[in-house]
Amino acid sequence: MKKVRKAVIPVAGLGTRFLPATKSVPKEMLPVVDRPVVQYAVDEAFEAGIEHIVFVTGRNKQAIEDYFDVVPELMGTLQQGGKTEQYGSLERLLPQAGSTTFTRQQAPLGLGHAVWCARDVIGDEPFALLLPDMVSFGKRGCLAEIMDVYSVSGGNVIAVEQCDPSETHKYGIVGRGGPMGSGFEVTEMVEKPAPGKAPSNFYINGRYVLQPEIFDLLENQERGAGGEIQLTDAMVRLADSQKFYAKPFDGRMFDCGSKEGFIEANVAFALSRSDIGGTVLELVGDLIRAHGRRDAA
Ligand code: UTP
Repeated sequence: MKKVRKAVIPVAGLGTRFLPATKSVPKEMLPVVDRPVVQYAVDEAFEAGIEHIVFVTGRNKQAIEDYFDVVPELMGTLQQGGKTEQYGSLERLLPQAGSTTFTRQQAPLGLGHAVWCARDVIGDEPFALLLPDMVSFGKRGCLAEIMDVYSVSGGNVIAVEQCDPSETHKYGIVGRGGPMGSGFEVTEMVEKPAPGKAPSNFYINGRYVLQPEIFDLLENQERGAGGEIQLTDAMVRLADSQKFYAKPFDGRMFDCGSKEGFIEANVAFALSRSDIGGTVLELVGDLIRAHGRRDAA
């Protein structure tokens, strides 16, 4: 079984749900508390043992590349001002020199197309895929959990979570087969099944380990839902010749690509912080009470 060394993080989408902010700020740079969304995915990848990250970027995403580089003036000012703690934390967040690659998706033709743009950099080896707008919240990162299953199962592994059965039509859903390590074998995958037609309520939550044969399928993948080249459509075809496994995530993934999920993530991460959690709890409590009084009036 080949080791998973590289991860793809696609960041070339337009982020239309966050307009007007995303006119000039990539949605992956919006902060959850004080870190940009994309930083959480990078931390999660390195925590899971990934050695190299391939960012698939696009026009107007320069801020992401700059973010993962040194800013000499800032570092110099922090050092001169004796702000050693801030200096150290910025230094720790920097990926090691040479451990990232940036490649371009020239037009946002869909997630499947973005993944295909990383084919030459990945080469002939399995790789991890992290959708950065899905932010992992738990004791361990979601990717580390699916890597555990991969070390037992090989093949392709996807992370899943359970949704309310009435909501299955919004997601990619997998069918549940026999056990495999701490996960299970996938019997089928359906993108946004019609109400009542879902094989389970386990939805694909944005973390994958995939075999490189996916690239050949993406190369000739026709446009699917929304006129975009869909990753799930290629995975369904790959499942004809390769096994897929799923791991229910022990934590929770926040969908920071939606306004509600982004706000929920900010509150959840803030409440979990020892420096500001207590104050934020009081502030949120006050807001809820004031809202209740307004409703009653
Ligand atoms: P989304 O579909 O959530 O991102 O893709 P989007 O298209 O930017 O969002 P909206 O719907 O317009 O608000 C999930 C991830 O895949 C990347 C996005 O940047 C995001 O991180 N993506 C999506 C690409 O890199 N290229 C694409 O063509 C589409």
